[in-house]
Amino acid sequence: MPAEFDMENISIRVLNDINPDITLELKKLEISNLGRIASINEWVIPVFIKYGKVIVAVKNSSSGLEEKGKIIGVNELLRKWDEPETVFIHSFYVKKSFREKGIGSLLLKESIKILKEEKVRKIELTVDPKNLLAIRLYEKFNFKKTDYFEDLYGHGIHRDLMICRI
Ligand SMILES: CC(C)(COP(=O)(O)OP(=O)(O)OC[C@H]1O[C@@H](n2cnc3c(N)ncnc32)[C@H](O)[C@@H]1OP(=O)(O)O)[C@@H](O)C(=O)NCCC(=O)NCCS
Repeated sequence: MPAEFDMENISIRVLNDINPDITLELKKLEISNLGRIASINEWVIPVFIKYGKVIVAVKNSSSGLEEKGKIIGVNELLRKWDEPETVFIHSFYVKKSFREKGIGSLLLKESIKILKEEKVRKIELTVDPKNLLAIRLYEKFNFKKTDYFEDLYGHGIHRDLMICRI
């Protein structure tokens, strides 16, 4: 971990306000961190904020790596319509230059706390079976692989379903 990096300087927040600056910031982050699989844009981001939940990791003070107040980690969730105690993680990522410093773990840990307070009992997500870093992170928080879907998001785009009871 670089000397200037300080986990105390990271806060975890639920986004409530919809504004064009946040929308643009999230859109850019989504593209630069998820690349080809980036799937949300300025039409969907406000919908996620208003009707789903967007939990972010934010830098509280400036450092060599990032400006104060900038989002460095994102967790976008939906609640299951006919099973409101279940949520689905649609996107989960940490900004490239901040990875492998524990921020993904912090964001997931704090997200679980927030969700528990809102009476969520089950978290589901799908992950590329080859994405071992992400799978290791989810397993650390007790997510278990429960299913595998071939071609879930298109030909050749397979996914594991992972579930965590909280
Ligand atoms: C997956 C991702 C969110 C992890 O974020 P992160 O901030 O790097 O995660 P952390 O530093 O908290 O590490 C979490 C765990 O991942 C594993 N991990 C992280 N980096 C690792 C590495 N270089 N080698 C082995 N395991 C590693 C470890 O199990 C680690 O926990 P530990 O340090 O307690 O052992 C991040 O890599 C990312 O944004 N990837 C691109 C988007 C993506 O794949 N999202 C998931 C889609 S389902």
